[in-house]
Amino acid sequence: MTRDFSFNSTVRLNSGQDLPLLGLGTYLNDDCKPACLAALKKGYKHIDTARMYGNESQVGEALRESGVPREEIYITTKINNNEHSYEVASSSVDDSLKTLGLKYLDCMLIHSPLSNKPSRLDTWRALVDSKKQGKVKAIGVSNYNVKHLEEIREAGLELPSINQIELHPRCQQKDIVAWCKKYNVVVEAYAPLMRGEWNYPEITETAKKVDYCHVIHSSI
Ligand SMILES: NC(=O)c1ccc[n+]([C@@H]2O[C@H](COP(=O)([O-])OP(=O)(O)OC[C@H]3O[C@@H](n4cnc5c(N)ncnc54)[C@H](OP(=O)(O)O)[C@@H]3O)[C@@H](O)[C@H]2O)c1
Repeated sequence: MTRDFSFNSTVRLNSGQDLPLLGLGTYLNDDCKPACLAALKKGYKHIDTARMYGNESQVGEALRESGVPREEIYITTKINNNEHSYEVASSSVDDSLKTLGLKYLDCMLIHSPLSNKPSRLDTWRALVDSKKQGKVKAIGVSNYNVKHLEEIREAGLELPSINQIELHPRCQQKDIVAWCKKYNVVVEAYAPLMRGEWNYPEITETAKKVDYCHVIHSSI
């Protein structure tokens, strides 16, 4: 199945918001303002940052300097691994709003499940409440496997809108994708370009067949 992948393409989240399908990642880019400005000028509608990346302020500056209306751009950030508790996660949301210079976040994810079950659930409760308070429009998780997703479901809590995981032809994570499909959680791929290592015959041949080479090149 082919799908439209323009900058304006979106997918509907279980929370009702539309997530732009293409996003600019800012991992390992301490100086991401020029890239964000160039991307916004080119037409990108979605920027992915994280508290861990240390570049939220640059993302916010780029958004303001670009002159693009705030409501046209989708900003995702992520709770850091050492911020897993109700109190710390709640203040992380406030801190990210301040650092990005925004009145609301489009999406806040828990960056990874790397703590323990009670802390993960308390962190999730903090995000649920931040959403109720209007600070965040959509909430989600990242690097969660089925066990971590089931914890949320079994606790009777609101399910995430998004699970951001590594996903590309060499890392398909089919069990997680199937769970997310079943429960209407959007799977967001990170490292979709396989960190540049896509020179495998089965990939280049398939790309040629479906004329996807131009998509890969124009997205870099
Ligand atoms: N939630 C998480 O835990 C998590 C983890 C990882 C990433 N992410 C998000 O996903 C975004 C993208 O992931 P990613 O940056 O790890 O991986 P990616 O998008 O698959 O790949 C980017 C890497 O591939 C290289 N590359 C891209 N096209 C290339 C080409 N044509 N030839 C050679 N090298 C090429 C780039 O090198 P150069 O930059 O040197 O050109 C860069 O190092 C991140 O920026 C971040 O926002 C999230």
